[in-house]
Amino acid sequence: MLLKEIEERCSIRNFLPDKIGEKEIKEILEAGRIAPSWMNVQPWHFIVTDKEEHKSFLSKCANFQRQIKEASHVIIVLGDLTAWNKANFGRILEEKGIDREGIVNLLEDGGYNPANRSEQMLILRTIEQCTYAISYMDLQAKHLGIDACIVGAIANELTGFSPDLAEEVRNIFKIPEGMIIIAFLALGYRKEGIITPKKKRKAFNEVVSKEEYKGGQAEKWEY
Ligand SMILES: Cc1cc2nc3c(=O)[nH]c(=O)nc-3n(C[C@H](O)[C@H](O)[C@H](O)COP(=O)(O)O)c2cc1C
Repeated sequence: MLLKEIEERCSIRNFLPDKIGEKEIKEILEAGRIAPSWMNVQPWHFIVTDKEEHKSFLSKCANFQRQIKEASHVIIVLGDLTAWNKANFGRILEEKGIDREGIVNLLEDGGYNPANRSEQMLILRTIEQCTYAISYMDLQAKHLGIDACIVGAIANELTGFSPDLAEEVRNIFKIPEGMIIIAFLALGYRKEGIITPKKKRKAFNEVVSKEEYKGGQAEKWEY
């Protein structure tokens, strides 16, 4: 059942003007909230908007991608770099029941706490976690019969596109220091006639090997 929904999900870029109900939007956000993350650090925050002027502005920040303006709602996914600081990460580790000494080790260790490595690593590990939340929200939307498009080509710290617009997004949505803009998730109901295209993906054997890497030369699966 889930595999069927995954097969049938696709990015939709043409939405009807119909609005998604608050209950469904909340369920989509809930799927993101409860997504898994490294040591349960949950370094994310989601800002949801359905205001026309906000959606138009966010579309401009994504090189005028139409689906953002047309969407019923847009979720701005923020990565929270402060989630790994000692106070916040320490509290999460405490809640996991780890003893004091263990917590100190985890907080100080560069392997466990990317904040001890570099700014780049901190950002990388934060994005790593947020992609799960985005995927869960995208799939929950599909499950509810709502279409979506993940939009990453936006003015933000990751792409470096239009720093002035990225700064404006921060001001308009009051995004605090320590949070980075990771992606927009455009949500809505597709226009009539927009069909789910056949998936263009690498072949199963090209991306899967049994026991050892076979570089696309894997044996046939029997089922
Ligand atoms: C991280 C990420 C960023 C993306 N950014 C954009 C984007 O800026 N604009 C867009 O139209 N689609 C974007 N997409 C959607 C991809 O183009 C799409 O997932 C891919 O072509 C596979 O098609 P499907 O989603 O229909 O299966 C993005 C997807 C991901 C995962």
